[in-house]
Amino acid sequence: MWRMKEEIIAWGKDLGISTKDIEIVLRKITGLSTSQLFLAQEISEGYIGEVRESFTRLSRGEPVQYVVSSAEFMGKEFFVDESVLIPRDDTEVLVKAVLQTSPSTPFLQGEEGTILIDIGTGSGIIPITLMWNMESQISNFYAIDVSREALEVATVNIKKYGLQDKIQVLEGDLLAPFLRPYSNSLLHGDEIPANMVITANLPYIKQDDFENMDTSVYTHEPKLALYGWPGTGFELYEKLILQCLQLQKRSKCITLFIEIGFDQFDIATAYIKSQGLTFDYFRDTHNIVRVIQINFS
Ligand SMILES: C[S@@+](CC[C@H](N)C(=O)[O-])C[C@H]1O[C@@H](n2cnc3c(N)ncnc32)[C@H](O)[C@@H]1O
Repeated sequence: MWRMKEEIIAWGKDLGISTKDIEIVLRKITGLSTSQLFLAQEISEGYIGEVRESFTRLSRGEPVQYVVSSAEFMGKEFFVDESVLIPRDDTEVLVKAVLQTSPSTPFLQGEEGTILIDIGTGSGIIPITLMWNMESQISNFYAIDVSREALEVATVNIKKYGLQDKIQVLEGDLLAPFLRPYSNSLLHGDEIPANMVITANLPYIKQDDFENMDTSVYTHEPKLALYGWPGTGFELYEKLILQCLQLQKRSKCITLFIEIGFDQFDIATAYIKSQGLTFDYFRDTHNIVRVIQINFS
C-alpha cells in the first residue's frame, strides 16, 4: 500500500509544519536522499505511523533536530536529544577562531604536551571538529560537562566518528577535574603540559532574556545548557577565568576561547581587563563579536 507524497506534505502543512521540516522528517523515516525524495511520487504506507508521530511532535513545537535525533554542524551530522543544546551556526565562529589563531601562538607551533579541554561540551561538536583539524598539534583532548546525560550524547558522537581513543569525556564543574589536589588531579607533577587550549560555549543567557526566548527553545532545550545567571549572564565565564588563573600556576601557557552573547562584549572585556589579562576577539558574519580569546601566559 502506498500514499501520495503530496498528500502527506499537505497533511503536514495543515498541521502548521514547514515544508523544510516535513522533508527532513520524510528523509529520515524513508532513508531517501533529498533528490530521491524530490522524485518520489508515493511513500509506503508502512512509514505512516512514524510520520504521524513525528508530525505530532513537530506540531507541538518540538525542534525537528530532536524529532529526527540529528543536527548538522560544520557540514557533519551529530546525534542530539533533549539533554543537549542543538548545535548553533554561531559556534562555528569559536571553532574557526581556534583554527585561525596566529601561528605565532605557542600551541600551534606543534610543541609536545599541548592539551585541549572543551568545557560544557554538550553533544561534543567542538572537540570532535577540532580533533579532525588539530590532531597533530594536540596530545590529549578532553570533553567536560556537568551533565551526565549530555556526556552520554557526546560519547555517542565520539564513537560515531571513531574517536573514543582520542577524546576523553569527564564529568565535572568547569575545570574542576584538573584542579583537584595534585595527587588526585588529571595533571600530575611532571605530567603538567606546557600549553593548554581551553574552549567553552557555556550558558550565557540572562534570566530575563531566557524567559523571552522562542517557546520551542524555552520549552524543549535544556535550561542547564542555556541559562546563565540573574545578572549579566557572564558569571559562569568569570568563574572559569578565575579557575584558569589558578591552573596557570601549573601550566606555562593557557589560551581560553569563549563564545559570548551578541551584547556581552563590553561586560566580558571589562572583566578580562580587571584580571590583568590580554585578549583578542572574533566576529560573526554580522560583524558582531561572538568569540573572545583570553591569554594566560
Ligand atoms: C550552551 S551549551 C553548549 C553545548 C556545546 N558545547 C555546543 O556548543 O553546542 C552549554 C553546556 O554547558 C554545560 N554546563 C553548564 N554548566 C556547566 C558547568 N558548571 N560545568 C561544565 N559544564 C556546564 C551544559 O550542560 C551544556 O551542555
